[in-house]
Amino acid sequence: MQYMVVLFLLVAVFHTLSAEGLHLSNLSPVCLRCICHASSNCNKTIGCSGGRCGPLQISRQYWKDAGRYVLPEDNPNRDGAFPDCAEDHSCATQILKQYIIAHGKDCNHDGITDCDDYAMLHFNLKSDCSVPIDATNYGLRYSTCRPTANLDDDDDIT
Ligand SMILES: *[C@@H]1O[C@H](CO)[C@@H](O)[C@H](O)[C@H]1NC(C)=O
Repeated sequence: MQYMVVLFLLVAVFHTLSAEGLHLSNLSPVCLRCICHASSNCNKTIGCSGGRCGPLQISRQYWKDAGRYVLPEDNPNRDGAFPDCAEDHSCATQILKQYIIAHGKDCNHDGITDCDDYAMLHFNLKSDCSVPIDATNYGLRYSTCRPTANLDDDDDIT
């Protein structure tokens, strides 16, 4: 029993570190808002169409690849669990975060993994996130709100 508790705590601590320390340290609220804006103008009543649901325009496959996150108390095996989470702004944001934790990388190969890469990943999906998004409507909307890439570095220098 005590082993289980210790093990659980270790897993919880490690999960927190890996989630926020490594992959998500630069996934800021500004970045999340901008990806939402790029996806749908962050339309919270957009519903599902063409297989994509909610303000982040998430597909069922994306949701599965993100670990099938669901609303509190819901069951991922329930038929409506995916659209109900994806149409809920905060639940959809959790799907995005889990997707980035699982599949985030330096999509544009510029040596840093930041919001630009997360935005590319969200649009291109995990199989090949390196395709430029600049010429897409999504990419154009993203460019209007993308966080300034060097903000943190500037803070360190001054
Ligand atoms: C959000 O999407 C719905 C469904 O497509 C549409 O009817 C509504 O006008 C949109 N809202 C905004 C603010 O664009």
